[in-house]
Amino acid sequence: MARKARTKSTRSPHSFKVRKATLKDLPVLVAHRRAMWKSIGFRQKRKLDEADRTYSKWATSQIRNHALTAWIAEDKGKIIGGGCVWLQPIQPMPGYDRMLQPYLLSMYTEPSSRGRGVASAIVNEAAAWSRENKFPQLRLHAAEMGRGVYSRRGFKRTWEMRLRLSGSPTRRSKSNKTGRN
Ligand SMILES: CC(C)(COP(=O)(O)OP(=O)(O)OC[C@H]1O[C@@H](n2cnc3c(N)ncnc32)[C@H](O)[C@@H]1OP(=O)(O)O)[C@@H](O)C(=O)NCCC(=O)NCCS
Repeated sequence: MARKARTKSTRSPHSFKVRKATLKDLPVLVAHRRAMWKSIGFRQKRKLDEADRTYSKWATSQIRNHALTAWIAEDKGKIIGGGCVWLQPIQPMPGYDRMLQPYLLSMYTEPSSRGRGVASAIVNEAAAWSRENKFPQLRLHAAEMGRGVYSRRGFKRTWEMRLRLSGSPTRRSKSNKTGRN
């Protein structure tokens, strides 16, 4: 059910609403995912087309299995942004009852709606959902544009590391803007 975004802000209330996505929203979820990759530097059309097809199949099965929960922000019936939480399988660890980790991905706001708190509202929904479902943490990989949004909402950098084993031929980005989203 749609409800007013629950963003904590001292600014005036948001005009947009945030609701959970359904499988009917799949085309927009795929479009947001593609637009996110393009904004962070991926440019090869063929690779993006391929990624759309894979993501579409993956998202469909994950939504059906309740492993992917997505939110959509709408303003006067127009979709202006979205984001998803995926329950990522993880290894056993002390303090984790379930071997699943909520992971925030596919965050995207239409350029004309940026700076209005859309992404912040989606992050709040995702965090509240993760809390309500008794998960101890919400994780993500922050692309450059999202870092302020996440750190203002209390996310902290961690000590996760990676070793690059090959180049990334799909990108034309100038800097290390992202690795996984
Ligand atoms: C990153 C992205 C999702 C942020 O979306 P957004 O809806 O503009 O984000 P918000 O409006 O919640 O926050 C953006 C800024 O507006 C500010 N803001 C928050 N609520 C606001 C409000 N009610 N009114 C005005 N500004 C507000 C925030 O403080 C934030 O400022 P900061 O960047 O200095 O921290 C968007 O820029 C985007 O789609 N980028 C391309 C894809 C991408 O990089 N995705 C992230 C992958 S990790």
